Amino acid sequence: MTTDDFPSFPAGFVWGAASAAYQIEGAVHEDGRGPSIWDTFSRTAGRVASGHTGDVACDHYHRYADDVALMQSLGLAAYRFSVAWPRIQPDGSGPADPRGLDFYDRLVDSLLAAGIDPYVTLYHWDLPQALEDRGGWTSRDTAHRFAAYAEAVHARLGDRVRTWTTLNEPWVSAFLGHGSGIHAPGRTDPADAFRAAHHLLLAHGLGARALREAGARELALTLNLSPAFGDSAAAERIDLLLNRQFLDPALRGEMPEDLLKIIDRHAGLGHLRDGDLELIHQPVDLLGINYYCPQYVQDVPGAPADPAWPGAEDVGFVHPGGPSTAMGWPIAAAGLTVLLNRLAREYPEVGLLITENGAAFDDGEPSGGRVADPDRVAYLDAHLRAAHEALAAGADLRGYLVWSILDNFEWAEGYHKRFGIVHVDYATQRRTPKDSALWYRDVIAAEAARL
Ligand code: NOJ
Repeated sequence: MTTDDFPSFPAGFVWGAASAAYQIEGAVHEDGRGPSIWDTFSRTAGRVASGHTGDVACDHYHRYADDVALMQSLGLAAYRFSVAWPRIQPDGSGPADPRGLDFYDRLVDSLLAAGIDPYVTLYHWDLPQALEDRGGWTSRDTAHRFAAYAEAVHARLGDRVRTWTTLNEPWVSAFLGHGSGIHAPGRTDPADAFRAAHHLLLAHGLGARALREAGARELALTLNLSPAFGDSAAAERIDLLLNRQFLDPALRGEMPEDLLKIIDRHAGLGHLRDGDLELIHQPVDLLGINYYCPQYVQDVPGAPADPAWPGAEDVGFVHPGGPSTAMGWPIAAAGLTVLLNRLAREYPEVGLLITENGAAFDDGEPSGGRVADPDRVAYLDAHLRAAHEALAAGADLRGYLVWSILDNFEWAEGYHKRFGIVHVDYATQRRTPKDSALWYRDVIAAEAARL
């Protein structure tokens, strides 16, 4: 696929890639790091495919300098990574461990030296196990602990890091972690899931406030957002639970009435306090969007709610047919245009940044130093064009970060699903840029040459 007819993105559009601590770092016992809920979960039989864990992962903790050099060779302008809370506070509270901070200090310095802007995410799912033992996200106290942790990281990196994201995908933490239980901590109680969702939002608000007071220059919240397509009652319900549950409190200080009824039915309202919405509704500069595919639904009267979707009775999830990724997710780039246009219309004050987009495919092994991944190139190409359509229609889209820079630990799927634009041979830790990485490099270079 050539880049000749590629649409022209505006000057200053940020081209980058993303990762997350537990998925790539490894070194889980080093430099005082404490256990996280994902260490516990992945070591529990039957939770993660083939019993894989993040113990070694991509060994990025030791190989970060080479990985940064690789990013530089691709011409990336931004790299989004997450800080592992249990490296900073091994048991979730108290003084920061300087050794944990040192690692991110080194990483930030090497990125800056390579001309790459660091985008820090403070929570990408690796809650210190000690906090889980005290109730985790079902406990209000965890939100306060998060704000203290955020401050500690900012105190060390705030002089060099401009963009701070509080949480990654709180819907997933709350509903896959506490509803379906397919993610850590593996709870399966709808009341826990709704309480966790609220406390995660509160953590975002308290964290954002603390960061702003400490002088953070740019604040963001990253959500997994999908347009819901299909029969209107089912689609509205899924939109409410997935999108509006997080967008409306965080960006408008509002809690949809229909949602409040669902929460009351499953969890009561005892965990909601006066003033919470104001705390949650902190000014943020950027909405981070993780987009993979739309949700396709239909009305199915009498259908019980899927455990990940408490409140979504009478809803059936369907596959629209057509091509899928290796995750079984339908490929539908047009959904990204629909989503971005809607966000631009309904939440016009916030800048938009695609913090994740990408696809897993069953790539072959490297051969002759090459990995041919035409499906991923086609996926990225189509989604970038879809993003550009929204830009052309007026959406304030600031950049695009591909998921992911490296093949990595794909949570419950272990290492079986490969999202990287760079192939990782886990036996040797050898990195091989796939064709998609070289294509992305060419797109970035061609865009720069046009300006
Ligand atoms: C979103 C998550 O933030 C990331 O950790 C995950 O690997 C990708 N989706 C792909 O599932």
